[in-house]
Amino acid sequence: MSDIRFDAKVAIVTGAGGGLGRQYALELARRGAKVVVNDLGGNLDGTGGSPAAAEGVAAEIKAAGGEAIANASSVTDDAGMAAMVQQAMDAWGRIDVLIANAGILRDKSFTKMTVPDFEAVLNVHLLGTVKPTKAVWDIMRAQNYGRIVVTTSSTGLYGNFGQANYGAAKLGLIGFINTLKLEGQKNNIHANAISPVAGTRMTESLVTPEVFKAIAPQYVMPGVIYLASDAAPSGAILAAGGGAFALARMYETEGVHLAPADLSAEAVRDNWARIGDEAGQQAYAAGGEQGQKFFRKMAGG
Ligand code: NAI
Repeated sequence: MSDIRFDAKVAIVTGAGGGLGRQYALELARRGAKVVVNDLGGNLDGTGGSPAAAEGVAAEIKAAGGEAIANASSVTDDAGMAAMVQQAMDAWGRIDVLIANAGILRDKSFTKMTVPDFEAVLNVHLLGTVKPTKAVWDIMRAQNYGRIVVTTSSTGLYGNFGQANYGAAKLGLIGFINTLKLEGQKNNIHANAISPVAGTRMTESLVTPEVFKAIAPQYVMPGVIYLASDAAPSGAILAAGGGAFALARMYETEGVHLAPADLSAEAVRDNWARIGDEAGQQAYAAGGEQGQKFFRKMAGG
């Protein structure tokens, strides 16, 4: 099989001034892409900002012979995202890949979490993915080509103590791509999610130096490069860390149908094991498939 290449392609990577995003940007450029390196250059909690982070990675790309533009707008800034996309269009005339990777943390148990802490995290992860996606969407439609990778997390998929804000934002992104994969289909726009585990400033206080090295961002990067490539699937949630790769999926059980005469809270309680029986469970490709099952069951099927 041929190598994955991005020659003549243009990619935007948000939050690419460090950690995972930097790794994605460097590799896209190494494989021929022209890259917009976006990063606000702030602190882990979203405060502060400096163009140095984005400029540093753009300089690394150029030093290696690649083409890059540094951009220090916040992903939460509508006008800033539109201007970033315009900057790329003026320079290179198209946008093929968007990797929405920027992120912050405001971890606290829900009891101690303020609404502003919740909003800040939702804004950066969820709306900070929606805004750059909105800015590239019509361009990708007009080109009949686009690859969008959003960044979810095991916290969104499964939960984690102290991260109610982050988890809500991260699973929101799965809802987002579930619809984009449908709406993008006829224009060859594929939307996928990466659920990474990596040693970055987000995780360095949680693991030993040995583990930190063993889960370096370069072990996640190949999965994201594939999701950004021509051959990418659509609607996949790829979990990756330390060289391990797996797909996360949501399944729904076949369930039971209660006839009107049996319909009660007690019947739901008493049928709980059957409702949850995994035999025949399915991963649906669109929300309507759930409704079709209900109508089939209502008709006695
Ligand atoms: P990181 O902190 O090194 O990278 C995040 C980057 O986003 C930083 O360079 C930061 O300056 C930038 N950023 C933050 N707010 C921004 C804004 N408003 N506009 C533009 N840039 C902004 O951390 P890491 O680990 O590389 O995180 C990358 C993504 O992966 C994040 O979305 C994170 O939530 C996600 N993730 C990471 C995991 C891990 O194990 N490291 C686990 C699950 C998800």
